[in-house]
Amino acid sequence: MPSPATKHFPEFKASLPSMRDKTVVITGTTSGTGRVAAHTVADLGAKVLLLNRPSKRAEASLAALTAAFPSAQIHAVDCDLQSFASVEKAAAQVAELCPEGVHVLCNNAGVMALEDQATGDGYDVQMQTNHLSHFLLTRELWPLLVRAADSSGEARVANHSSSARMAPGKKLKASYLEKNGGNLGGNGSGLVFNGARWVRYNQSKLANAAFTAALHHRIQASGSKVKALVAHPGLARTELQETSVKKGGMGRMFTNVFMRISQSAEDGAMGIISCMCLPDATSGQFYGPGPGMMAVKGPAIAFALEGFYDNEETRELLWERSSAAIGRDFEI
Ligand SMILES: NC(=O)c1ccc[n+]([C@@H]2O[C@H](COP(=O)([O-])OP(=O)(O)OC[C@H]3O[C@@H](n4cnc5c(N)ncnc54)[C@H](OP(=O)(O)O)[C@@H]3O)[C@@H](O)[C@H]2O)c1
Repeated sequence: MPSPATKHFPEFKASLPSMRDKTVVITGTTSGTGRVAAHTVADLGAKVLLLNRPSKRAEASLAALTAAFPSAQIHAVDCDLQSFASVEKAAAQVAELCPEGVHVLCNNAGVMALEDQATGDGYDVQMQTNHLSHFLLTRELWPLLVRAADSSGEARVANHSSSARMAPGKKLKASYLEKNGGNLGGNGSGLVFNGARWVRYNQSKLANAAFTAALHHRIQASGSKVKALVAHPGLARTELQETSVKKGGMGRMFTNVFMRISQSAEDGAMGIISCMCLPDATSGQFYGPGPGMMAVKGPAIAFALEGFYDNEETRELLWERSSAAIGRDFEI
């Protein structure tokens, strides 16, 4: 099915500031919003690090970016978010490549509605890919974010959530953050995104928002100059749905009909790029087509973090269980 036409992105992109002298680390640049974000910040002059799991798609991502911006500083770093060891190795490589620090860490990569499978570390494949490994990556890169903030006044962590954070229940549960991979409800997809595959996705996207809230509160308490922001893309035509269809999470015909209301990957990337680049973005902001369930397309606007995850109980649950999963404290 062809992608919807891009409507808002060119005008949005023209409004963005230079990213010269900024170092930007992005996960998941082989397609979708991550690819758009990588091309955008490279075009704006940033040094860009592409964190992808090794594949032909990862090689193509590097090749396309270096061909489009031959004078830009682009580095590829292997990083499989299904493996904590791979994330740690990637973070060490980023430290070697970036003595100047990291100005923007964009935790973008994600998977959706996959089977009830454990990673090699024992966690749900969706929760580890979408949240736990990004929590670990942020922890490992924190000294580099602080270094960049000290030398240039600020740095940012931009997380990518989803409208799925608002799925019924709206409550983050400890069991999804614990070592229960392969034992979290089975492979049902449900009629209206309510099967166990979707509950696991919803929990991981709720975790992205709760992580932002918990990080923001710790940043405020410590006086850190690093900002914590979060975005959602509405409904964007990327590889996300294709992968879900191939893995049995969504029916082909239903997806083709459903995606008629989607926007292009470029328009969907405006929220995360706002978090990464907009000069007036402040810590604790959410960017996307809007706060409600019906916000599937349109220009990205800023709105506040929401109370169903920005509360002490959820922030503490998220931080404590995520730290336990990665096996180390994360002090701000
Ligand atoms: N598209 C939407 O409508 C929508 C809606 C709400 C939220 N989102 C969120 O937007 C973000 C970007 O998704 P997208 O829509 O752009 O999807 P996409 O086109 O499928 O891109 C996802 C990216 O994540 C990478 N990735 C997946 N598993 C990985 C792993 N184990 N290690 C490293 N990278 C991995 C993929 O790389 P590979 O080539 O290695 O698979 C790809 O680069 C996700 O967090 C998603 O949850 C999207």
